[in-house]
Amino acid sequence: MTNKLNLDQTNRLYKEALDLIPGAILGIRRPYNFVEGEYPIFFETAKGGKVIDVDGNEYLDMLCAYGPIIIGHREEEIDNAVIDQIRNKGFCMSLTQQIQNKLAKKLRELIPCCEKVVFVKTGSDATTIGVRVARGYTKRTKILRCGYHGWHSWCVEGKGGIPEKLYEDVFEFEYNNLDHVSKLMQTYGNDVAAIIITPINHPGGHEVEMPKPGFLEGLRELVDRYGALLMYDEIRTGFRVNLGGAQKELGVIPDLAAFGKAMANGYPISFLGGKKEIMDTLIKDVFLSSTFFPNSLPQVAALKTIEIMQRDNVLDGIRIKGDKFAKSVTEIIDDSGIPCTFSGSPWMPYITFDSDPNQLYRKLREEFYRQLIRRKIFLQPYHHGYICYRHTNEDLENAANMIAESLKECKKLM
Ligand SMILES: Cc1ncc(COP(=O)(O)O)c(C=O)c1O
Repeated sequence: MTNKLNLDQTNRLYKEALDLIPGAILGIRRPYNFVEGEYPIFFETAKGGKVIDVDGNEYLDMLCAYGPIIIGHREEEIDNAVIDQIRNKGFCMSLTQQIQNKLAKKLRELIPCCEKVVFVKTGSDATTIGVRVARGYTKRTKILRCGYHGWHSWCVEGKGGIPEKLYEDVFEFEYNNLDHVSKLMQTYGNDVAAIIITPINHPGGHEVEMPKPGFLEGLRELVDRYGALLMYDEIRTGFRVNLGGAQKELGVIPDLAAFGKAMANGYPISFLGGKKEIMDTLIKDVFLSSTFFPNSLPQVAALKTIEIMQRDNVLDGIRIKGDKFAKSVTEIIDDSGIPCTFSGSPWMPYITFDSDPNQLYRKLREEFYRQLIRRKIFLQPYHHGYICYRHTNEDLENAANMIAESLKECKKLM
């Protein structure tokens, strides 16, 4: 029996924040997305693969800030490059600094579809400008989409405050169901500007899923037949699955792609990249500008992050550790007799509980993640985790042991 954590400071700050900020915390970080009363709500510091909450509890951080932390927290080489830029050059000016070109060249060298790029700040910025470019280039309005693409009006699930006309031309399709997409294309194909998809499926609360053989190829064939564009949302897969993105890993190249999260190890930057002719729509026909988009600090961080990733084979390291972790957790799950599934290997480890008519899976899920957080493993019940370069083999062996112990506790509910 492992005790509940001391969360006095977390609870005090949460109460205070309820009075200051609607819901105290934004979106996915709210307590109901974890196990309420069991998880911390405020972190204080982070280093490498670990985080410490405001009550002093230290965790193995397997959520990695929902994806941006690819090497580790407070990576000195990256932070020093950023500090140098602050001290010696500055980063917020009325004109663009030359580092923009250096980063763009690097991205073109790495990512197959990126003949040209534009830098923005968040994943939502990148997917949204992608949709606008696709519409501007094709002069069509309809979009077929699959996956989470951010909080903007055209794609967000919660429809509060959004007039229907802003999303009425956007149709959602099922991942790995080419028939479904073909039918939508038969109906709307000549008006479709783009199909946008997360090339690896990572839906909230459900297993991570790889594309079936022929699925992405089928999408490519459909857009080509109807004169539409294929856009990948690589916000999670970019700089994690492969330095060239999932497109390089899987071999089907889109016309446009959105990247963000891991590219700068936590500094806020994202981009849209694509074929030159399509991206050049941004010269005149499609507008894009924002005060902070050219800010050079995250550009410095991105270049340094990519340099380290290339120099130290960071993604190979993550892949090896992720494969090993997946193998041991799969064995633990098989031995446990608990109806749950491991997916997302090697990059996005996730344990989901198999649904059943009596909804036991809900209780198992809550108990499992309760036990896990008490054992100082920070994972999220409704979202896959991540492995970063600074997670050591011992960290991941410890995580696997804690998973085994937590599943044993779940057995008591069966
Ligand atoms: C696949 C995908 N696309 C887009 C986004 C939106 O990115 P952001 O939260 O940086 O706006 C996310 C964020 O989680 C994402 O996972």
